[in-house]
Amino acid sequence: MRLAVADHHAQLRLPSNWPKTLSPGFLATLEHPTPYLMCDLATIRDRYARVSTAMPGIDCHYAVKCNDSPEVITALAEVGSGFEVASFGELELLQRHGVAPADVLYSNPVKPASHIAAAHEAGLWRFAFDSEGELHKIATHAPGAAVYVRLRVDDSTSVFPLSRKFGAEAHEARALLQLAKSLGLRPYGVTFHVGSQCTSPNAWRQAIAATGRLLTRLADDGIELEMINLSGGFPARYVESVPSLDLIGGTVMAALDELLPYIPEHLVAEPGRYLAAESAVLVASVLGREVRAGENWLYLDVGAYHGLMETQQSMNPWRFPLWSSRPDHISAAHEPFTVTGPTCDSSDTMFFGASLPTTIDVDDQLYIGSAGAYTLSYATNFNGFPPPTPRFIG
Ligand SMILES: Cc1ncc(COP(=O)(O)O)c(C=O)c1O
Repeated sequence: MRLAVADHHAQLRLPSNWPKTLSPGFLATLEHPTPYLMCDLATIRDRYARVSTAMPGIDCHYAVKCNDSPEVITALAEVGSGFEVASFGELELLQRHGVAPADVLYSNPVKPASHIAAAHEAGLWRFAFDSEGELHKIATHAPGAAVYVRLRVDDSTSVFPLSRKFGAEAHEARALLQLAKSLGLRPYGVTFHVGSQCTSPNAWRQAIAATGRLLTRLADDGIELEMINLSGGFPARYVESVPSLDLIGGTVMAALDELLPYIPEHLVAEPGRYLAAESAVLVASVLGREVRAGENWLYLDVGAYHGLMETQQSMNPWRFPLWSSRPDHISAAHEPFTVTGPTCDSSDTMFFGASLPTTIDVDDQLYIGSAGAYTLSYATNFNGFPPPTPRFIG
């Protein structure tokens, strides 16, 4: 099936956020072995600056899990970013790059006891939790620590929901913070996650409203909190357009102003995807091209197991921008392809109905845009195929 002319042309524009420094023309001149992830650190610094502008007074703690490359950590540390970790391993990584544990947030609500103890020992003092069991764990292994409760919030407008796995109900959160106090911990704050790649600014407003109601109830108990942590969820541009960070920031700032009984001293956010996704292009080679039962198949040297696991995780539709090294990428007709990985497993298939030039063939390269987030950190060497090599400019 050939695409209609209008569809064809709609596919032939790079998303406006594709870094100018990583244009297909430039990538085609490179001779690095594939697969590799080419990352423009200037884009990460630019997104960090946009967070500061869109949400003034909110401290940014980059979610290390998103892309833990030393170059990314160093670039963000240099511009003054804080960090958020999911494990002691991530804290050790940060320490190796000179980040002080005291400035780091540990926001995984369910942690191994040994990681809590090691982080506490290293000087990290702020821990998330969402249950009684976790509070007891923290009280035992990090006595006196400051704790912030993770609220379950509506994440239905995100591509990657998280609230089934984590989050206390609002009525439980109040009792949990009281329990924290009685265990000798410091009731410190509230956090929530509206789901990764959240596309509705109203999700943050509703979550802040729930936070405000909790703050009011806690004030009745004589507990005043010191931190609100907006966590992550800020969307990056893939193919579909998303609300701008300025729009989300405006909604967040207004909600904080209107819906809280008081403004805690520390307001923080933990963006991951927003800072990293648009900074990188994943460059892969075509290993094979076949027609199977009338379906065009393209076999690449990366697949879901080599960095593109997210293509299999979402119930909600979303698409990575794709381009190729074909000199006739624009002029050739396009047709739909099923794009799969190099392994003997069919579960490494990434894209269905991807519109690509009919001329694409073995040894051409495919450029997968907005690939800086949750790619390298997910990549394995399943079937003996190496993960993408990280490369940096900027
Ligand atoms: C606790 C926490 N903070 C921040 C993030 C970053 O979220 P995102 O990449 O959507 O900004 C995550 C992602 O899973 C998370 O679990």
